[in-house]
Amino acid sequence: MMLKMKTFTSVSYKKCILCIFILFLLIVWKITSYGVNDVLTIKYNENQKRFYVNSSNCQMAYVEPFNAEFTKLYTPKNFTRCSNQSDLVTVHFDSILKQYVLHVDEEVLHKLSQSKSNKFACFYQNITYGQSADHYDRMGKKTKFTHDYVVPLNVQGMLVECRSGDEKRILQEDAFSFVQYQKTSPNLDIDRKASVIMYGIDTVSRTNLRRLMPVVFGFLKSPGWYEMMGYNKVADNTYPNIFSILTGYSPNSAKNQICDTTQPGCLDKIPFIWKDMKKNGYLTAYAEDTVFSNIFNYMKPGFLSRPTDYYFRPLLDALEKETIKLYCPGCKMVYCLGRRLANSYIFDYCRQFMQRYVADRPIWGFFWSNHISHDDFSMLSAMQHKIVGDLLNFEKDGSFEHTIMIFFSDHGSRFGPLMRTRESFLEERQPIMFIYLPPWFREKYPRYVEALAQNQNRLSSNFDIYNTLKHIINIEGLVEDTKWSYDCPQCQSLFYELPESRSCSEAAIPEAYCTCHNYEEVQEDHGTWRMAELVVDRINQFLQYHNLQNLCSSLTLKLVNITEVRITESDEHVSLGKGLRHYHTKFQVHQNLAEFFATVLYDRKTEELQINVELISRINIYRPDASCLDDNIQKLFCICLSKLRNNEST
Ligand SMILES: *[C@@H]1O[C@H](CO)[C@@H](O)[C@H](O)[C@H]1NC(C)=O
Ligand SMILES: *[C@@H]1O[C@H](CO)[C@@H](O)[C@H](O)[C@H]1NC(C)=O
Ligand SMILES: *[C@@H]1O[C@H](CO)[C@@H](O)[C@H](O)[C@H]1NC(C)=O
Ligand SMILES: *[C@@H]1O[C@H](CO)[C@@H](O)[C@H](O)[C@H]1NC(C)=O
Ligand SMILES: *[C@@H]1O[C@H](CO)[C@@H](O)[C@H](O)[C@H]1NC(C)=O
Repeated sequence: MMLKMKTFTSVSYKKCILCIFILFLLIVWKITSYGVNDVLTIKYNENQKRFYVNSSNCQMAYVEPFNAEFTKLYTPKNFTRCSNQSDLVTVHFDSILKQYVLHVDEEVLHKLSQSKSNKFACFYQNITYGQSADHYDRMGKKTKFTHDYVVPLNVQGMLVECRSGDEKRILQEDAFSFVQYQKTSPNLDIDRKASVIMYGIDTVSRTNLRRLMPVVFGFLKSPGWYEMMGYNKVADNTYPNIFSILTGYSPNSAKNQICDTTQPGCLDKIPFIWKDMKKNGYLTAYAEDTVFSNIFNYMKPGFLSRPTDYYFRPLLDALEKETIKLYCPGCKMVYCLGRRLANSYIFDYCRQFMQRYVADRPIWGFFWSNHISHDDFSMLSAMQHKIVGDLLNFEKDGSFEHTIMIFFSDHGSRFGPLMRTRESFLEERQPIMFIYLPPWFREKYPRYVEALAQNQNRLSSNFDIYNTLKHIINIEGLVEDTKWSYDCPQCQSLFYELPESRSCSEAAIPEAYCTCHNYEEVQEDHGTWRMAELVVDRINQFLQYHNLQNLCSSLTLKLVNITEVRITESDEHVSLGKGLRHYHTKFQVHQNLAEFFATVLYDRKTEELQINVELISRINIYRPDASCLDDNIQKLFCICLSKLRNNEST
């Protein structure tokens, strides 16, 4: 400090002016470079309200990542490894043979066998499948292999076991999956179609990315990445949000227009985007971790026939049944499959898919991890180096030279400690949505890039993503006027400028999920209690309407946590009546202390209440309470009589 003072006073007056000027330039540079990539109002002072979107019909507030409420709740998590051992067997792709080759590492062999002997006995078992789309059939017979074994082209997944030379001791067990190269007819299109790779993680909000994964966030600021800062989910949980991205339908409309996706065989009939992709010459892939939670299998029948060219699910089924599973502390989903992270199989599959094909032909792939942060938001901090590692690997492979990548989530935290914060409404409804455009695409379509950049701070929704995917397929066609999303005729490709005045209803976002409107807290009084009570009544009526009164307990209000009122009502609701206002109410019922969050239209004088019960959020874990029934929505409101805990119903 002393030293600095001295040097400062000893510089000449002239130099000082120069350094102040340079400092000034630095500050200006810092501010403007932020302004492009981050929230709108960084250049205003910190006390002023900041927004992701600040347009005529949408003010989407920015949440300070490390606010006091959050720091109180947060304890960082360390990364837990699945194994401390080095890999005994490694896989390489021989680019001349175009086949995978297994290597046995001698150094690791010596270490594990604790001997200088080079003897070992390794076996693999093929994962055999094909009888049904979503499951494996059995493990193949043990096949011995030695150094530099060339994996047959018809093996897509294997378990490996290596023993000491005398076969008495198991040295290491492992599992691998392969995206086997298929020679494909050359792409005769003169106009190149862009590949699209979707890298998805369940439960990551915009704010949690900023606070828990700064390393990933930093990577996503590199050139070519665009964050959709006005992206707002359209439905409650994973299924309807992903369904709308992949089909342009809500599950309800699909039920009316095509078939009921809870019925076996229906999902095979749905016009998923991958079918369009395939029709247009794309090779397709789909991989997810966690068998139980797979998007099209959790309380859904799954697929009867293989949906995409590469489909990971049967391999996952085998991995979960045939390897040792490990759960991390506090996690309900499988964390390790054998000696590897469950999600590492998925993103390794993704990497292989790109390595094999992305330079040669258009590909489309959907890769989704359920287990990273579904149960515990703080897992994101433990996992961030793993995730940025994936992205760096893709970069090292050169994949970003070729493909569009969508790095995204379905929603933010829906239960757990964050639900107790003031920001919980935003947390739940603002998933991350980043779109990467490769250099050649940016060069070829400067107008689309400009529009996408403009749209970063406009309200957007899942249906726009669907339209963007459709647009990518038809990029050389005349597509100025297209109503691709059935459930959002006004939605559009993000490669065209979104209207400044866009409202949630124009983006097919119900008010219950819309984060465009600012609400302020109202003092608790008889009126706020009464309103919550009426909401509980509506839930009870809902249960009765579905004839569930013999299965599920009737609910009674225990306490109201917070009530908020919308600050400015827009014109579209004026016609509804003078006294009707939008409210948020967060409350708890006696029965198993279940917690809810509802958006309602309510008139305090007349006690008129308008609400769609199906859009009420359940904000604590409901699975154990609702095990007596299967319906996705009914589960949110049902405390099974058989599961009722007596001590709390006083
Ligand atoms: C948001 O937009 C309004 C209306 O254009 C403007 O008055 C206000 O200053 C903007 N707020 C910020 C923080 O940019
Ligand atoms: C995480 O690791 C650091 C450094 O090894 C250690 O100081 C800290 O206590 C660990 N935190 C938890 C929650 O285990
Ligand atoms: C790896 O080593 C650490 C530190 O010795 C230990 O705490 C951990 O349990 C080990 N993990 C496994 C999977 O063996
Ligand atoms: C491995 O399993 C696949 C899928 O069931 C099958 O098609 C293939 O023939 C099997 N390969 C070997 C070498 O057993
Ligand atoms: C609501 O308040 C109760 C009682 O203070 C508290 O136990 C509960 O955690 C609160 N819930 C939420 C979601 O804020």
